[in-house]
Amino acid sequence: MKVLVIGGAGYIGSHVVKELMKNNHSVTVFDNLSSGLLQNLFPENDFIAGNILYKEDLEKAFSRGFDAFIHLAAFKAAGESMVSPEKYSVNNITGTLNILNTACEHKCLNMVFSSSAAIFGEPQYLPIDEDHPKNPENYYGFTKLEIERFMAWYDQLRGLKYASLRYFNAAGYDVDGVLTGLEQNPANLLPIIMETACGMRKEMKVFGTDYETEDGTCIRDYVHVTDLASAHVKALEYITKNSESITVNLGSGKGLSVFEMINTARKITGRAIPSINVERRAGDPACLYAVSEKAKKLLDWETKYSDADTLIRTTWNVYNKK
Ligand code: UFG
Repeated sequence: MKVLVIGGAGYIGSHVVKELMKNNHSVTVFDNLSSGLLQNLFPENDFIAGNILYKEDLEKAFSRGFDAFIHLAAFKAAGESMVSPEKYSVNNITGTLNILNTACEHKCLNMVFSSSAAIFGEPQYLPIDEDHPKNPENYYGFTKLEIERFMAWYDQLRGLKYASLRYFNAAGYDVDGVLTGLEQNPANLLPIIMETACGMRKEMKVFGTDYETEDGTCIRDYVHVTDLASAHVKALEYITKNSESITVNLGSGKGLSVFEMINTARKITGRAIPSINVERRAGDPACLYAVSEKAKKLLDWETKYSDADTLIRTTWNVYNKK
């Protein structure tokens, strides 16, 4: 298939592009490089430097004619979205509406979308399935939930077929070691552990050690980015073959605590990784993990690389070389 990957130079996008090429799809990347990196592009990719807020950039892209598009271009820092909601309204919501409208005008009606576990908010029960109540606790999660609703309307009114992929905590690096572009100013746990292991940070903070979990720290469902990438390709193939929209959770089904992640990283890197225990971070649920039975059933998707060891080893391979 001829696929346009919007946000394809970013952390998750570049892994998706690699997986698409491995499966013989032809890829054009559209990215404004605000957080994406030229280094993440492959020589075989066509590249359009463009912004989803500029209709003319999207026109230029979609007029090339694609069988499908994957949309990963979004701001994703939950904390920042509570301080600068406008930034998230404009980029995540307005930008996505621009994409939806342009895609439909050009009859490009197959879409894979990066949604998020952030749409669920505080868990009412565990593991979280697709039907779990949706009460986002941050504005970022709200933007993703709104987009899921827009897509459902565009399915009904314009015949859009979409796969909404609700990622849990994306982590790790390309298992083949080809993609090595580091995220700039990361805010997530694993890159922060790695920056501390490398000495880029003197110490790291553990946000809260008094949660009702075994070791007192928060538990999350970390899913390897190579596993996430394979879900995109399977989802794309599913919606085009079945002409049916789907929404699935993507997690490993296992929870790992903050201390487990830090201790495993200490073993793998052989570095001290100094950490200090501080107050809880606002808006952090104690425990989040998914059930991905639906993805298994519909897409035959399972995680292969989402254990703590592989997550940390593949990330350390990249940080250790920098
Ligand atoms: N944490 C620390 N210290 C740090 C950074 C994080 O202790 O320096 C803790 C957090 O408090 C949390 C856990 O590590 O308990 C994971 O935090 P992240 O910031 O890495 O991830 P979140 O679970 O907050 O959110 C991530 C993505 C969201 C996505 C969500 C889905 O950033 O975009 O996963 O589960 F929606």
